[in-house]
Amino acid sequence: MHNITLIPGDGIGPEIADAVVKIISKAGVDINWDIQNAGADVAQTEGVPLPQRVIDSIKKNKVALKAPVTTPIGKGFRSVNVQLRKELDLYANVRPCKNIEGIKTPFENVDIVMFRENTEDLYAGIERQIDDETAESIKIITKKASIRICEYAFEYALKYGRKTVTAVTKANICKLTDGLFLRCAKEVAARYPQIEYNEILVDNLCMQLVQNPQKFDVLVLPNLYGDIVSDLGAGLIGGLGVAQGANIGEGCAVFEPVHGSAPDIKGQNKANPTALLLSAIEMLRYIGENIAAENIDKALRKTLKEGKFLTQDLGGNASTTEFRDEVIANLK
Ligand code: NAI
Repeated sequence: MHNITLIPGDGIGPEIADAVVKIISKAGVDINWDIQNAGADVAQTEGVPLPQRVIDSIKKNKVALKAPVTTPIGKGFRSVNVQLRKELDLYANVRPCKNIEGIKTPFENVDIVMFRENTEDLYAGIERQIDDETAESIKIITKKASIRICEYAFEYALKYGRKTVTAVTKANICKLTDGLFLRCAKEVAARYPQIEYNEILVDNLCMQLVQNPQKFDVLVLPNLYGDIVSDLGAGLIGGLGVAQGANIGEGCAVFEPVHGSAPDIKGQNKANPTALLLSAIEMLRYIGENIAAENIDKALRKTLKEGKFLTQDLGGNASTTEFRDEVIANLK
């Protein structure tokens, strides 16, 4: 029996979380889900959107599966996602981006893994209104955080036989902050002579990803560029409905999709649970449930390849629950 924290989130979160929990249960994995709500509704009842009980639960269980949580735009509380990553020091945001058979996109043979630094940069939340017409935000880049995300990316490349790691910055403009990130990347790269090291500016990367994504392998990026470029990566492989992610720290991990709470399709049984399911499959591997992980992965890929029960974001008509039931039917 595994004890795992489940954050059902809001928007489409509870719908996709329900589908994923049912699929995992049908695959025979015994999990005691410690359900911890967070977000706007919680802020109404408990005064804060991310109560300490959520942090304590993840610290105790060491692993969490998290569906998206809405952040008010341009006002309101600080993002629960950003706070959670910071509080638990989940420094590595791992976002694989690989074509899935059956999902048609204009791009083939995409196989990129993005490593986004998760704890600092403009996401440090140090913002200030100077007067009615001026506001400022401070971009923090430290050697410690830059070195460890680069080490994580190079270690991954070594472990999984990847050939190149590319550091992504805007160091021509942000000379001190991104310049520091780049110096750290170079310093780490020197310790991995077997892996080719490249550098690219983020604007050029975006253009090249759209023209020739096949040429990229492992990317390592500061927080803001990582956030934006990983959505671009999701677009290359079929959209946010299929883009998985994980936030890894020392001895603690939170698995969550790249996408947000999709308020435009909330409560309509239309959301694609694939991204959360792929994140959960990685979570099962992380806790050593490799057989169940492989079984669910095969059932999911069969469902997507056959294409009879695709959700609307993938051009089909299936509901979230129909898709879920087809994955369950495909489980061996
Ligand atoms: P979003 O990712 O929620 O939605 C963008 C578009 O993709 C929408 O058209 C949506 O319907 C579609 N989409 C996303 N996931 C889908 C899925 N599983 N199946 C089918 N279609 C899907 O991004 P948006 O609208 O910018 O953000 C909405 C809220 O989510 C915001 O409050 C934002 O802060 C929050 N957010 C939360 C994240 C998290 O909890 N980790 C990550 C990103 C955004």
